[in-house]
Amino acid sequence: MAEARTQTIVVTGASSGIGKATARLFASKGWNVAATMRNPAAESDLVESAALKRIALDVQEPDGPRAAVAAALEAFGRIDVWLNNAGYGAFGPVEAGTRRQIERQFDVNVFGLIACVQAVAPHFRANRAGTLINVTSVGGLMTVPSYALYNASKFAVEGLSEGLWYELGALGIRVKVIEPGAIATNFGGRSLDALDYSAMPDYAPFMEKVKAARKRITENSSPPELVAETIYRAATDPSDRMRYLAGPDARRFVPLRRLLGAQAQMRLMRRVFRI
Ligand SMILES: NC(=O)c1ccc[n+]([C@@H]2O[C@H](COP(=O)([O-])OP(=O)(O)OC[C@H]3O[C@@H](n4cnc5c(N)ncnc54)[C@H](OP(=O)(O)O)[C@@H]3O)[C@@H](O)[C@H]2O)c1
Repeated sequence: MAEARTQTIVVTGASSGIGKATARLFASKGWNVAATMRNPAAESDLVESAALKRIALDVQEPDGPRAAVAAALEAFGRIDVWLNNAGYGAFGPVEAGTRRQIERQFDVNVFGLIACVQAVAPHFRANRAGTLINVTSVGGLMTVPSYALYNASKFAVEGLSEGLWYELGALGIRVKVIEPGAIATNFGGRSLDALDYSAMPDYAPFMEKVKAARKRITENSSPPELVAETIYRAATDPSDRMRYLAGPDARRFVPLRRLLGAQAQMRLMRRVFRI
């Protein structure tokens, strides 16, 4: 019997959180892992081996994604799964966002992700195979007060992914979306920008209530390993299913929104946040 070929995954944002947990899980399952990150020299947890390579990739660098595809192909000869996980969040009132913060929000989460799709698609097309997985969020299906810019970027990736599902799907390439709820990573520390609304004190009471609610909600966060398991399930699911919720809160909130309808769910969210 022919030996099963080792498969290869490329992970963006593998320096921490969900990306790192995913790199570890796939490595433990015998996959080749191209763990891409902005600063591979600073990484010490993901140890390089014949099956794990640390590759530099800042998705905001114009040539970054193409160079990362080339490096992964040089290391492993083939890419089976590309995981767009790198993310950034702007937190606070839209009015308080600087041009730089707003551009970064869309540059990392949307334009950088599109650049990665464009970089890996030729390889997938040539193989008439491959799986593209985009990490969005429950916040790509419904908004969370004070996350409007972040949510808008994740809504964009939800729409983009549906479109890709058709056009890449027609070429034998699977497109998947992972929608985590609240996950216990350092996203709130290393990847979140608090927008400065100090010059707009009108927002202060709203933001205080939001911060208190956020504290309550994130107390029950799920570990990043749970999202990694969901990503593994999606990567190895041969069906054309696109969406995978990750976490018990995601499984509660998304069906509830469907059941109530968007308007009633938004009113409920307003009550939960006491705003
Ligand atoms: N945590 C949650 O509750 C949650 C919920 C739903 C969805 N998500 C999504 O899950 C994904 C991973 O987030 P996480 O929770 O694991 O947080 P995290 O630990 O902060 O990971 C974010 C990763 O993105 C990387 N990154 C940021 N900008 C980048 C850029 N320009 N180029 C390449 N990499 C970049 C970061 O790299 P550096 O180390 O260089 O900063 C980091 O590795 C994100 O897309 C996030 O939106 C998170």
